[in-house]
Amino acid sequence: MKSTPVFRLDPVKSDHVTLWPICCLHIGHHRHEMQKTVALLDKILRDRNSYVIMLGDTVDVGTRSSPGASVYEQDMNASEQVLVAGALLTPLVEAGKILFWLDSNHSRRLFTEAGTFTAEEQLARMFFGAGFSGKDKRLLNKYVAGGFDGTKKLKEVEGYLQEVISKLKPGVSQVFWGGLQALSRIQVGPNRYKLHAFHGSGGGATHKTVISQLDRMEKVAPGNDIYVSGHHHKRLVFDADKIVLDHRGDVQYRPAMYVSTGCMLGYDGSYGEAKGYVPTRPGMTRIKLYANNWGVEACV
Ligand SMILES: [Fe+2]
Repeated sequence: MKSTPVFRLDPVKSDHVTLWPICCLHIGHHRHEMQKTVALLDKILRDRNSYVIMLGDTVDVGTRSSPGASVYEQDMNASEQVLVAGALLTPLVEAGKILFWLDSNHSRRLFTEAGTFTAEEQLARMFFGAGFSGKDKRLLNKYVAGGFDGTKKLKEVEGYLQEVISKLKPGVSQVFWGGLQALSRIQVGPNRYKLHAFHGSGGGATHKTVISQLDRMEKVAPGNDIYVSGHHHKRLVFDADKIVLDHRGDVQYRPAMYVSTGCMLGYDGSYGEAKGYVPTRPGMTRIKLYANNWGVEACV
């Protein structure tokens, strides 16, 4: 468990900031919704009061021992996926939008199979000062210019990627590496919000799985205001009041918000369709943190 620095996010001409837990983009998978991903990242970039926490599975990393037919469903190999994801997310890092970055199961396939840095670590390390090299930029340019045979999705966003690549600078900025689970304090105006973030784990086709995982996280790290996870590709929000005695012996009701964010995968021909899972609409959940009166809202 890591603790992050306190993030101070003061809203501009608004009474709240919006926190986007981004998870399960699965860049590199043939059903990844590249255009929807680019549209969401652009929307966040344009909104002065939007921020992001990266919850993992940014890239798909289908290997020979991955479940299902994953290895045959890749549009790019793992290194290419990391490069493309890094390029897509660099504008958000440069704008100071990404608070921290978590590891996840797909990413860790690189570690479990070869002992290398996980894919998410590689992505986060791009922004720790090493940044993109000239060689990275040349490789990216080559791929975007048609090096990925049969990769239609990259063609769809070629102009956008070219623009991003032209602006890449080495050592652009920093994001905080949160590892597997992170505890965070987010200051919005005078209000401080405590957040526990976890990528998520295990299988599960139903919302019940998501609810029990979020409940379990409260046992792992009690006393937080917000619990957020992803992994199950299901957008879900619920809340509860926790009844506690304060230091004077008075009964206090302490609200807690539980948030599961979504994914950017289509359904047709996917692992989800093969397993008969209920299709979920691509997209992320968002969390509003208020600056005047203490308050958390979450919506899908
Ligand atoms: Fe996952």
